[in-house]
Amino acid sequence: METIEMAALEEGQSRPTTITKSKSEMTLRRSLTISFRDLCYTVNPKKKTEMKILKSVSGTVTPGELVAVFGPSGSGKTTLLDILANRKGDNGEITGTLLINGNEIDDDYKRLCSYVVQEDILLPTITVRETLQFYADLKLPRSWTAKEKKDRIDSILEQIGLTHRADAKIGGILPGGIVLRGLSGGEKRRVTIGCGLVTAPSIILLDEPTSGLDTTSAMAVMKTLVELVKTKNVTVICTIHQPRSEIFRLFTKIMVLAEGRLVYYGADAINHFTSLGYPFPEQTNPADYILDAVTQIKETGRADEIADKLAPLYSEQALAEEAKNPHFQGNLNIKKGKISAYNNGMWTQFWVLWKRTGMDFVRNPSNSIIRFVVAIAVGLLFGACFADLGMDEKGVQSRAAVLFYLVINMILQPFCSISLFISKRTLFNAERASKLYHTLPYYLAMMFFECLACIITAMILGTISYWFSDLNSGVDNYFFAMAIMIIAHFAGDFFMLFISCLTVQVDTSFAIGAGVATIYQLFAGFFVTVDKLPKSFAWLRYINFVFYSFRALMANEFEGTTLDCGAPDAALCPTGGDYLDKFGFFNTRKGIDLVIVSAFATGFFVLVYLCLHYLHKEKR
Ligand SMILES: Nc1ncnc2c1ncn2[C@@H]1O[C@H](COP(=O)(O)OP(=O)(O)OP(=O)(O)O)[C@@H](O)[C@H]1O
Ligand SMILES: [Mg+2]
Repeated sequence: METIEMAALEEGQSRPTTITKSKSEMTLRRSLTISFRDLCYTVNPKKKTEMKILKSVSGTVTPGELVAVFGPSGSGKTTLLDILANRKGDNGEITGTLLINGNEIDDDYKRLCSYVVQEDILLPTITVRETLQFYADLKLPRSWTAKEKKDRIDSILEQIGLTHRADAKIGGILPGGIVLRGLSGGEKRRVTIGCGLVTAPSIILLDEPTSGLDTTSAMAVMKTLVELVKTKNVTVICTIHQPRSEIFRLFTKIMVLAEGRLVYYGADAINHFTSLGYPFPEQTNPADYILDAVTQIKETGRADEIADKLAPLYSEQALAEEAKNPHFQGNLNIKKGKISAYNNGMWTQFWVLWKRTGMDFVRNPSNSIIRFVVAIAVGLLFGACFADLGMDEKGVQSRAAVLFYLVINMILQPFCSISLFISKRTLFNAERASKLYHTLPYYLAMMFFECLACIITAMILGTISYWFSDLNSGVDNYFFAMAIMIIAHFAGDFFMLFISCLTVQVDTSFAIGAGVATIYQLFAGFFVTVDKLPKSFAWLRYINFVFYSFRALMANEFEGTTLDCGAPDAALCPTGGDYLDKFGFFNTRKGIDLVIVSAFATGFFVLVYLCLHYLHKEKR
């Protein structure tokens, strides 16, 4: 027993907990009270463009409460939730106090608090059970056995009412726009909530859990939450738009925001707004009434006046609530920097991601299959154009052409990988922000299958061409040619991935990739031989891995051979070395060229990782 449970037990805290019988439920659900005082959120502080998004928001949410955050669009609901979830990035300045059981929070809070985002960001190709398994494998402590995890997943499936759909694929839009049939919108919403329940969190924050759902699905989602509040004593806060009156009645308290100001927090919103001069029309949905009242408050510019009056009261209430909280001063066992927010090490993360990426790869094989089919087709057409090449003048020219086009194919094929990271960027950003895993294991798992596809493609194309064109038949030469082709394919592939991770736009990546690929071809020493390259740009070949790949393949093909010039004595004919000299490839050391191409591939590999890790992060 590590992490949360361990942490709580170690310190011998006398904290009320909900412990159920099986280990699947045996996470100490500590009852947590959130209190926040005078929370302000300012974007671009002290600049001309300064914008106060939240101003002096105070309140307390105790265990077993289901609190709704209401307000017109843009009133700061998501912002408040993000701050309460400790997920706001450094885009703005947060001031005020946010305490959990009277203690400051830090990264470990993410284990106790689950944040369910507005969008359902799930991998379409895996099933409901596999999705929950993925979360269980990454979020639960290592000490949990497979059986215990399965029990937890079964229990969550029951809670979210999806036991009968456990083996259904999530479904959605695959890269390329193909629609994979799967769950309904409401079911996906419940899966997203289920993912947040894996660690049996004490606090659940949900951003618009019912938006986009029909009333029945919305009710099903809300009932799931009510069950959690009632049976597990969980603290739940959610933002919500237009709930039907039955849903409205489920909330124990309502928080109403207008232009970033708190204009009400309590259990009797109707009386409050009536007393402010906004009578409640009979037979109106209370939620609609509150929103109408807030809109009027906003339009008449009364938000500040009302909020200013209430702010000290709510602030005092928060303080008083904190003081009477029996766990006040209790230690949440959060030690800054000591405990990682991740429950599993890099290796486990890699293994879990490897399994999921593998499943996705196998279940959505169109990209890889197309790559292999194209490699076979290109190989066969190469064979048709350049079959059984001899060593006469025409034959050696054709050999050079085969080798050049083999390399070029290795840098053009990677265009199909442009969307590899782009298409999963949203999923990756969301999962990384939830501290499910680090960038490195994710990157290595994705690259494992990408490299596998590259190796197979290069081997297929290389072997077919080698065989048909009757290229240098030495075993060493064959394996060297395959090695160069694979590494050149890696370099080309990683280069395209680098461009795509840099721009995160498919169109832009194509434009840049096509331009660079053309330059690569021009300066590879085939169309324009080295001695004919324009002097001022000849250096470009040195930063061109296609040049080194082509030169190495040429050396591999011609070194130690004699050309067939028709002379009675072969000794009178030029050698393969002479032919290489014609291309300006003097004294080529193909082994060194292989190392250089490998260095390019490694360099691009690292650059892709850096782009993925540091650029286009989720901004909150
Ligand atoms: N980092 C930011 N930079 C600039 N503006 C921001 C930032 N974060 C939030 N805002 C602005 O603050 C306001 C409140 O945003 P928020 O997303 O919290 O609203 P909301 O109440 O959740 O709205 P909705 O109901 O439409 O989801 C919006 O006008 C939004 O554009
Ligand atoms: Mg919002």
